[in-house]
Amino acid sequence: MKDIICKCNNVSYHDIESAIKEGATTYDEVQDMTLCGTACANCEDTVKSIIEELVKTNRKTE
Ligand code: FES
Repeated sequence: MKDIICKCNNVSYHDIESAIKEGATTYDEVQDMTLCGTACANCEDTVKSIIEELVKTNRKTE
């Protein structure tokens, strides 16, 4: 099963992860790159916590 985080725009956890790997560090940047949270915005909190988690992990591995 695909791990869809943003149902409106069909954005998966993997899509958010890829955006962060490509350099996004904020919700706005991830939104620009994946379109997550641009419709109903119900996924906003989930997306923000995923970003926070992944950006932290990225920093540790730098
Ligand atoms: S679920 Fe993400 S904008 Fe609606």
